[in-house]
Amino acid sequence: MATFTVLNPATEQAVTSVPLVSAEETDAAIARAVAAQAAWRAVAPGERAALLRAFADAVDAHLDELASLEVACSGHPVGAARWEAGNIRDVLRYYSAAPERLLGAQIPVPGGLDVTFKEPVGVVGLIVPWNFPMPILGWGLAPALAAGNPVIAKPAERTPLTAIRIGELAREAGLPDGVFQVLPGKGSVVGQRLVDHEAVRKIVFTGSTEVGQQIMAGCARQVKRLTLELGGKSANIVFADADLEKAAASAPSAVFDNAGQDCCARSRILVQRSVYDRFMEMLEPAVKGVRVGDPASADTEMGPLISAEHRARVASYVPQGAPVAFRGSAPDGPGYWFPPTVLAPVRRDDPAYTEEVFGPVVTVVPFGDEADAIAIANDSPYGLSGSIWTRDVGRAIRVARAVETGNLSVNSHSSVRYWAPFGGFKQSGLGRELGPDALDAFTETKNVFIATEE
Ligand code: TAP
Repeated sequence: MATFTVLNPATEQAVTSVPLVSAEETDAAIARAVAAQAAWRAVAPGERAALLRAFADAVDAHLDELASLEVACSGHPVGAARWEAGNIRDVLRYYSAAPERLLGAQIPVPGGLDVTFKEPVGVVGLIVPWNFPMPILGWGLAPALAAGNPVIAKPAERTPLTAIRIGELAREAGLPDGVFQVLPGKGSVVGQRLVDHEAVRKIVFTGSTEVGQQIMAGCARQVKRLTLELGGKSANIVFADADLEKAAASAPSAVFDNAGQDCCARSRILVQRSVYDRFMEMLEPAVKGVRVGDPASADTEMGPLISAEHRARVASYVPQGAPVAFRGSAPDGPGYWFPPTVLAPVRRDDPAYTEEVFGPVVTVVPFGDEADAIAIANDSPYGLSGSIWTRDVGRAIRVARAVETGNLSVNSHSSVRYWAPFGGFKQSGLGRELGPDALDAFTETKNVFIATEE
């Protein structure tokens, strides 16, 4: 059987080997999910809610174990990994309230009664990337299960360990056979099969825009339901009237969190020209102060990149002669390290400025007025996230409405709160996850008219 050796990105040592699921095994898993479907949707709402809470409790009881797996497999700093395990627990708890609240409507019509039902969509295929294995699994899994659907998750080949463990915890918590299955394997095999198989009725894909486009084309053949969460190149817009100290102090974490391997990374900092030099003076010590090192150490803020190939890709955005304004530190020796790097001034056609680097590289550009800031922010095929720093409330609202992205924060860098919707404009995605409306993405609305006239 083919296997994949999971490497610790901080040490380059093998962690373990994971068998790779084949296309035939994927078909067998899909058959198990189909077989589980009718019984799962028939589980009484209160019972389904209780099972999701038991699942959340099982995750909670294994928080440290899950965090340790993520530290070893993904190189995430342990504090971040604990937050990620807590996030999937919280998302399960949030959607455990949904089965009893999956309300339809009663619509006034002449001659009868018109009611709508939220029917489960069917088997859901969840294709997860390597950058946030636990949270992204949870964002699809919890609402899909709550709505009465069986789920098959395909973790990224490099980072399958937490998903496999969470699948075991689901079984221990009492989820019936076939309701949640985890299939570690290649995207081109398992992922592709989930897209192509007619019994899979919905795909939730998080990953690169390039693969997302292929998946969208594949789903189109069957008019398969699809949610896409793709890349980003988000702007952090700093106006002259902002609390500059706070904006500069927080800008590094907004882009270097998870070593920049974050679809919401604010990787373009736009600074009003009149305060540009002052901002850069304050940004330098903040960048140099980022603690990069052993992910298992509690005070580490940034770990390594995921792989040697990915580090080479990130490094290609900072070639010899690149306009490096300043950079932070990174350990020597084994591990896929890359220091936090600030590029300025950059040309607007520099790939580091236009493309998603997915690493700890940020570009800084000056702007003139409000209209200029909005135009620069929107000059991107992406539209996922962003921040606005200003003390002028009117301006904050005007700019927030004008920037074409799905998730903005004012005077903060908060992106994802599980009780609010999350998703992208333009080539950053399709549909929304999380928040109160996520169940709509996992249900079909059925309208039923019942005649009451004799
Ligand atoms: P991808 O290479 O696109 O891989 C994502 C997932 O798709 C992996 O599980 C991969 O499997 C699978 N896959 C690859 N080819 C496939 C195919 N032909 N059919 C079906 N599945 C396939 O992305 P990545 O490099 O892992 O993740 C980084 C990207 O994800 C970035 O662009 C980032 O912006 C984006 N991202 C977006 C968000 C949101 S919420 N918008 C969140 C996180 C990440 P293998 O790993 O086995 O190849």
